[in-house]
Amino acid sequence: MDVENILKSCLELIHVELSESQRDAVLKELKAWLLPSVKGEGQTSTRDGSFTLIHPTYGEPYHSITAGAIRECLEKFLYPSELLERAKELKVVRILDVGFGLGYNLAVAIKELRDLNPRLEFELVSLEKELPKKVPEPPEEFGFYHKLLWKNLPQFEKEGIRFKLLIGDARYRIKEVEGFKAHAVFHDGFSPYKNPELWSLDFLRHIRRLMDEEGVWLSYTSSLPVRKALRELGFYLESTKSIGRKRGGTKASLRGEDRLSPEESLKLQTSPYALPFLDPELHREPLEILVDYRVRVELQKVAQGGIEPPTPRFSAVCSTN
Ligand SMILES: C[S@@+](CC[C@H](N)C(=O)[O-])C[C@H]1O[C@@H](n2cnc3c(N)ncnc32)[C@H](O)[C@@H]1O
Repeated sequence: MDVENILKSCLELIHVELSESQRDAVLKELKAWLLPSVKGEGQTSTRDGSFTLIHPTYGEPYHSITAGAIRECLEKFLYPSELLERAKELKVVRILDVGFGLGYNLAVAIKELRDLNPRLEFELVSLEKELPKKVPEPPEEFGFYHKLLWKNLPQFEKEGIRFKLLIGDARYRIKEVEGFKAHAVFHDGFSPYKNPELWSLDFLRHIRRLMDEEGVWLSYTSSLPVRKALRELGFYLESTKSIGRKRGGTKASLRGEDRLSPEESLKLQTSPYALPFLDPELHREPLEILVDYRVRVELQKVAQGGIEPPTPRFSAVCSTN
């Protein structure tokens, strides 16, 4: 089904009629979210000289082109994860890696952490829907661990590293993971508006279940539906540094305090877009998640503009199941 039909059945289901201009605005925004963010496909170079791939269907690069692939791994994921500070004290580092992709995030993290503590062991769980066929090599210094990961897929235990890659839709595969307590989660799906199933409140609840109480969740995104979901799940939020043309990302922890700026906090409290993506059974079509979200945003806008108080509606309104 295309976006117009999903919107139509969603509105019929909840007996809501939008005015023509509201409907046009909703559709326009939904369509804009689905547009490719970059042209082309295949391998491309990035700002720091390292390479990445552009995904043909998502129309998105696996890493930020303007920031640099390796720089993004370091500055959006590893540095804010606190793992470098903990590398000497920990015997084993556990990382949950959502979106294995080219394997850069993990290869970079292992190399940098081993440089600090050569005896450090690793327990790594990765989730990935579909591996790319041809992967560009990362810069030489990360080559050893990158090759180790790729040559031993989908799982291995050697060099002090226990690694498991779960292939398939992360929403199903994550249910198989039990008892893992991640020190860090590298949450690296494609952008929330293109890949909403990886960013829903319901999927993030599973992630939370697999985190150590001292663990830290990282992502490059600062988008409102994601931050709202994390808040709902009891995380404290902080913005990470912006690099390239990318805005700052998000660091979420279960201990500590909120460190968002007053402007960011206000936006999270008052923007009609600050509603989580919902996927209660973890099997909705991505487009359905997006349409349901945008319809709830519209209802929220109406509520905020009218007499009704702006209470967020945290139950999914549309379902074609
Ligand atoms: C931004 S890339 C990850 C880059 C990777 N972390 C790296 O360092 O090379 C996003 C990844 O999420 C994966 N993905 C998207 N939707 C998924 C899903 N529903 N389940 C599992 N993986 C998914 C894509 O296949 C893609 O490899």
